[in-house]
Amino acid sequence: MSGTQPTATLWRDVTLFDGHRTHPEPMAVIVEANRIAQVVPMARADDARLAECREMARGGVLTPGLVDCHTHLVFGGSRADEFEQRLEGVSYEEIARRGGGILSTVNATRAASEDELFAAARPRLEALMAEGVTTVEIKSGYGLTVSDELKMLRVARRLGEALPVRVVTTLLGAHALPPEFANDSDGYIRLVCEEMIPAADADGLADAVDVFCEKIAFSVAQCERVFAAAKDHGLPIKAHAEQLSSLGGSAAAARFGALSADHIEYLDEAGVAALRDAGSVAVLLPGAYHTLRETQLPPIDALRRAGVPMAVATDANPGSSPIFDPTLMLNFACTLFRLTPQEALAGMTAHGAQALGLAEQGLGRIQAGAPADLCLWDVDTPAALAYAVQPGRLRQRIFNGALRHD
Ligand code: NIG
Ligand code: FE
Repeated sequence: MSGTQPTATLWRDVTLFDGHRTHPEPMAVIVEANRIAQVVPMARADDARLAECREMARGGVLTPGLVDCHTHLVFGGSRADEFEQRLEGVSYEEIARRGGGILSTVNATRAASEDELFAAARPRLEALMAEGVTTVEIKSGYGLTVSDELKMLRVARRLGEALPVRVVTTLLGAHALPPEFANDSDGYIRLVCEEMIPAADADGLADAVDVFCEKIAFSVAQCERVFAAAKDHGLPIKAHAEQLSSLGGSAAAARFGALSADHIEYLDEAGVAALRDAGSVAVLLPGAYHTLRETQLPPIDALRRAGVPMAVATDANPGSSPIFDPTLMLNFACTLFRLTPQEALAGMTAHGAQALGLAEQGLGRIQAGAPADLCLWDVDTPAALAYAVQPGRLRQRIFNGALRHD
């Protein structure tokens, strides 16, 4: 093929974690345009075919690009003061009841312009990308008016246009009760259902709809109204559920065919069965568990036994998880929740993609036909990514077939 540029690119002799498992022998991965064309053991590769490709690397650990399926990256202000209050013994719930917590971020987010929110969120997203993220979900939920929620979602969409990363947006209007609706939470839920969801849908700004089902947020019945409105608009649903108590939010979400139930420290056996029957993903958020010094563990063994796919995400946000580091979450998932390193990695690849409804396109997997989102790491084994807390091991980040970081 002298004189012509090879069109295919090659990673050879890699240790491959494909989204579900680590292959036992050295592998070759060939990418054509923006898709994975071939995944083959080196011992069985066709040398002539390999020679035609442009070699991108030899050796290293190759994984799918990381999928961070639960973040709140767009927000105004900071909650460092509340961090200090919590250190003095005030609980997350107590801070919320005093009008701080999510509502303090709501005030700062409402006061910020779209450009200011974009400028603040951009380095947060770049921090995730520098540690391997190629797909990220970004929620609204700090606006709590129709226009402020749409503003947040527009910022999320703009981030995806400005940076080489896939952004999936989620409308989280039912995150907290805004002060204008104090004593009228049903009225606020009506606004979410009758105005916010239709407006976000009309502008194509929401890929999914989420709720916070909790005593300090919204009841199961209120969340069900939001789910029904989302379904009317053909939007998939997710839920923050069983984070601080067991209300049955996960089971309610499962009844509506939720993509995922997230947090779930207080999920009971019936909730596990409901997720299993609905094919929903359990999204584990060890950063929030860590930050809130939670002691109730999510029911990992029961989820495992039931075969519920477990995703792992940063939950990056200014309150309960101000942690913008996906590989640290792999470590937390193992150390705090006792996931195996393979489970943690699947949680940030194949299962993260499933929690966003993107598994059918092959996202989060290294297999022929899947989008070529890849990470090449300078580590000895995939498990080492979860074992050591050590930023800077990402050698290459390939987004949509093109090298975006080396
Ligand atoms: O995922 N649980 C509710 N929502 C966020 C917290 C947001 C915040 O504290 O600002 C969460 O933990
Ligand atoms: Fe969250």
